[in-house]
Amino acid sequence: MSERWTQSEAVTRPRQRAPDLDLRLSNATPTDAERAAVDGLLGLPDSRWIGGDRDDAVDARTARTGAAARARRTELLPVLHAVQKAIGWVSWGALNYVSLRLTVPPAEAYGVASFYAMLSTEPQAGRVLHVCDDVACRIAGSEQIKEALRTQLGDHPSPDGACAFVGSPCLGLCERAPAVMVQRTGRQSDVVVAPASTDHVPGLLAMELSAPEYAEPVESIPQAAGPDLAKLRLLRRIGVTDPTSLDAYREAGGYTALVRAMDLGADAVRDEVTASKLMGRGGAAFPTGRKWSAVAEQPAQPHYLVCNADESEPGTFKDRVLMEGDPFALVEAMTVAAYATGCSYGYLYIRGEYPLATTRLDSAIHQVREAGLLGEDILGRGFTFDLELRRGAGAYICGEETALINSIEGFRGEPRNKPPFPVAVGLFGKPTVINNVETLLNVLDIVVGGGAAYAAIGTPDSTGMKLFCLCGYVAKPGVYEVPFGATLRELLDLAGGIAGSGRLQAIMLGGAAGTFVTEDALDTPLTFEGTRAISASLGSGVIFVLDDTVDLLDILTRIAAFFRDESCGQCVPCRVGTVRQEEALVRLGRPSTNGGRDVDQALLADLAAVMGNASICGLGHTAATALTSALKAGLLDSAFAGADAVGVGAGEPTRITGVEENR
Ligand SMILES: Cc1cc2nc3c(=O)[nH]c(=O)nc-3n(C[C@H](O)[C@H](O)[C@H](O)COP(=O)(O)O)c2cc1C
Ligand code: SF4
Ligand code: FES
Repeated sequence: MSERWTQSEAVTRPRQRAPDLDLRLSNATPTDAERAAVDGLLGLPDSRWIGGDRDDAVDARTARTGAAARARRTELLPVLHAVQKAIGWVSWGALNYVSLRLTVPPAEAYGVASFYAMLSTEPQAGRVLHVCDDVACRIAGSEQIKEALRTQLGDHPSPDGACAFVGSPCLGLCERAPAVMVQRTGRQSDVVVAPASTDHVPGLLAMELSAPEYAEPVESIPQAAGPDLAKLRLLRRIGVTDPTSLDAYREAGGYTALVRAMDLGADAVRDEVTASKLMGRGGAAFPTGRKWSAVAEQPAQPHYLVCNADESEPGTFKDRVLMEGDPFALVEAMTVAAYATGCSYGYLYIRGEYPLATTRLDSAIHQVREAGLLGEDILGRGFTFDLELRRGAGAYICGEETALINSIEGFRGEPRNKPPFPVAVGLFGKPTVINNVETLLNVLDIVVGGGAAYAAIGTPDSTGMKLFCLCGYVAKPGVYEVPFGATLRELLDLAGGIAGSGRLQAIMLGGAAGTFVTEDALDTPLTFEGTRAISASLGSGVIFVLDDTVDLLDILTRIAAFFRDESCGQCVPCRVGTVRQEEALVRLGRPSTNGGRDVDQALLADLAAVMGNASICGLGHTAATALTSALKAGLLDSAFAGADAVGVGAGEPTRITGVEENR
């Protein structure tokens, strides 16, 4: 039985008080295993104030709470991860103990635990199969996998409680769709099966997965096997240099950039980055040099560096491939960025669904620290910088920079109002640089080759090399690297052209928050200014290709469900707007009577305007973009005509599958 409080218990039973402390806990107590999971991360409690034995000599006179205990709140998400991993869920007893250890009110700890899809506040099966049913995977057969699992398991855990499945938003493995991530209680790490098929179902249920469970990242870079290999910059070491060895990285030129940066000095490094005209690759396209100078000039100390590796935009997987295949480069790039901006500590925030990248980065950070390239007096130049890896836990919104900050600090991943911007008031209230993985990796070449040389690549307003994630109906899905200015048509040619029927229906450009474009956009240069000119954006570099057999209404409905599900719920336009948008879209797919479709289209336009103008953050601002662009391009006209031809009374549309079960 669940240890969770029932309402009547809450009313009739006196609440537990923390031993000497003013936290109001419920009566649930942690099991030994839960306590061990918490202590394994936080260390044993050294005082009764935080859940240990009473030591009168100290505890009677000194309160070990206050600022020191509260400073540990940043460990809330890691410790919840530890409990989830060890036990398989976070019980009320475990939450009470975590609250006590970190001096966090239990209601707030519950608020955090219940925010993330990879944490469960209810008992769940020891093995949870997260079957991606997002855009790329649903056209590659994820619904068939779910159906096969449903036949075996029903909609509930298997009879022995060992295994269950849930539909999942994009797992960042779209080039190998369909993907399944297996969340495993009590095991060191989760595993991913991609591409998966119905043939894998018996193995997934029995957890007898045959190799390869996980292909090497080089297989995600089709250019590595062709003549373009020599032109690669950001991808050049992937599949060539052993990603598990610091020595191999250094032999391949690793750490030349850090030495050069220290020879130049911090001010000159920032000047080179400004001269390079590098723009952020996380989606907002903000000039990196300006961001770095804004932080460097802040008098408040310390400064923090955050690498945003949360990569959860459906259709995006470039950062995953970089981190799996070239992890030392990211650690070096973060060190250079910290040096240039006066940061003494950094966080690498990686999405929770990237087990291989996490393992590789964890190992890289340890090796680099052992070699004295992180820590005090790096390279004997008097510079001190260290960093830690933080795992997200399944929340798209945590990619938004201020939500990410809240997540690291141990709060719900809800975006903050801006201003103040993180460059002035960021992590722990201090000046903070936040950059995307791909942005940071560009810095290495800028430092070594100079900002002017970098700016000579691409176009005047979009400089350097750019990674694109090609998936869906292309012959060779994967990450492609080209200088800015290549057209959509050139990218499609690189990826072997349109697969499936060979006839293009539409391309989703930039991700689920991006735009649907058609054939007439194929000669658009893929630059910031080129895409702006056609009212689109590069977003996170997604090029998701749909042939003319794909049910676009189904894809758009999945996108609407994604935003409804991932909205943090903090502001009304987005919380309500994403729900109403999904409902209106479902109605649009039904036969229209009495002008109902016109009414719903007008409603959708109103919702888009309200969400775009009045939401707090970029999620709400862009939640309607893909749908609006598809309607404007007339891409749904034939679906509407088809629905009307079927006629009134034809029943519910069948395409809305799994909306309720999606996280
Ligand atoms: C809903 C939402 C999700 C985001 N997700 C990511 C992400 O996964 N990775 C990322 O680098 N930036 C993401 N961003 C953009 C970040 O807020 C921020 O602009 C970026 O990390 C800054 O780095 P850059 O200047 O190097 O691009 C997201 C923004 C929004 C509104
Ligand atoms: S726009 Fe949406 S995701 Fe952003 S703060 Fe508001 S409710 Fe949260
Ligand atoms: S991994 Fe399934 S859509 Fe990206």
